[in-house]
Amino acid sequence: MTDHFAIAKLGALDLDRAAALHAESFGPLGERTWTRQDLAELVVLPGVAGLLLQVGGDDAGLAVCQVAADEAELLTLAVRPAHRRQGGARRLLAAVIDHVRKSGARTLFLEVGVDNPAARSLYEAQGFCAVGERRAYYQRGHEPPADGIVMRLTLI
Ligand SMILES: CC(C)(COP(=O)(O)OP(=O)(O)OC[C@H]1O[C@@H](n2cnc3c(N)ncnc32)[C@H](O)[C@@H]1OP(=O)(O)O)[C@@H](O)C(=O)NCCC(=O)NCCS
Repeated sequence: MTDHFAIAKLGALDLDRAAALHAESFGPLGERTWTRQDLAELVVLPGVAGLLLQVGGDDAGLAVCQVAADEAELLTLAVRPAHRRQGGARRLLAAVIDHVRKSGARTLFLEVGVDNPAARSLYEAQGFCAVGERRAYYQRGHEPPADGIVMRLTLI
């Protein structure tokens, strides 16, 4: 399949669009969504990098990660509903891993909800392994909170 996605660095001018994308992706899950201000405060922290997945100049996805010495964490990853099931998340995750590796980290961590089979499948296919759990980690509106799974990928 032709890869019609492109990857761009998240810049200061992209924050409104990135916040809208985050809301569109995580709002339906009942999770707290990141505002422009949240993103603006995040991207200036040491080691934080944001990546946009783009199709024909439009934003299709967003990922934010943080590298600290030899460890890194994936802080968020989402693909807009209209662009899902086309390999975009896989492409975005590959770009995150490439960035993390080039930054010198050797381990990438993330958290995912136990009730998020799409994301769990994405991460497992990429080689992430479950290494822990966070009880009642995800607040989902009026629903009972969902547990989170901590996953780790060792980069070689
Ligand atoms: C999870 C998410 C990022 C997947 O994005 P996507 O672009 O549709 O994923 P891709 O097309 O790249 O799929 C890659 C793999 O993910 C898994 N996957 C994606 N969507 C899936 C679904 N609805 N059900 C089951 N597996 C799914 C599959 O393993 C898939 O590989 P395959 O196509 O060979 O079966 C997207 O659904 C999303 O943004 N969800 C809301 C936000 C979220 O949950 N983010 C992750 C938080 S940890």
